[in-house]
Amino acid sequence: MLNIVVLVSGGGSNLQSLIDAVEQKKITNGRIVEVISSNPDAYALKRAESHGIKTRIINRKIFSNTDEFCDTIKQALQSAGADLVVLAGFMSILNKSIIDEYRHKIINIHPSLIPAFCGKGFYGLKVHQKAIEYGVKITGATVHFVNEIPDGGEIILQKAVEIRSDDTAESLQLRVMKEAEWDILPRAVDLFCNNKLEINGNKVIIKE
Ligand code: GRF
Repeated sequence: MLNIVVLVSGGGSNLQSLIDAVEQKKITNGRIVEVISSNPDAYALKRAESHGIKTRIINRKIFSNTDEFCDTIKQALQSAGADLVVLAGFMSILNKSIIDEYRHKIINIHPSLIPAFCGKGFYGLKVHQKAIEYGVKITGATVHFVNEIPDGGEIILQKAVEIRSDDTAESLQLRVMKEAEWDILPRAVDLFCNNKLEINGNKVIIKE
């Protein structure tokens, strides 16, 4: 049974998809042992509390720099005995020390089909706004391993979503969450917890 720690900063709909998947046994061999938020007001904290999951606030705003913040996060991950760290709407950067310690054990959900509309400055609604402005017909979501490059780690799963002519950034964001994020994130976590992911160079092979 693997210990999963979920890092959040906002509404927590992706966290909710993980909580539901564990309870519905769509994620096996893994349990969410702690939810850590960089934002004390994150609704994600209430979602965790209502399911009896331990929560911890490590408020990014009270740290003077990234390294001090990350050292505190790393200590919390170690005390939780994290085997897998999931970034579910986590809005802070993790430093090299954490990434080295948890190489190929941190996964992130990004609301586009990487390598499109990703990297520094591409987060939240802005990702969908840029996709609509560009005029792409298809967007979607990506689950990937986290490395030193923002949204740059090996891709685990992706799922496409059509953009409609009347879409706003808000309507598109909600559809990408519903049709893609809340599906592929739990699936990726279940694959990880059941040792179905094999890394081959810059590619992830899913073992049957
Ligand atoms: C999601 O769109 C996710 O792709 C991105 O941030 C948003 C978080 O939403 N990383 P939530 O907090 O999971 O509801």
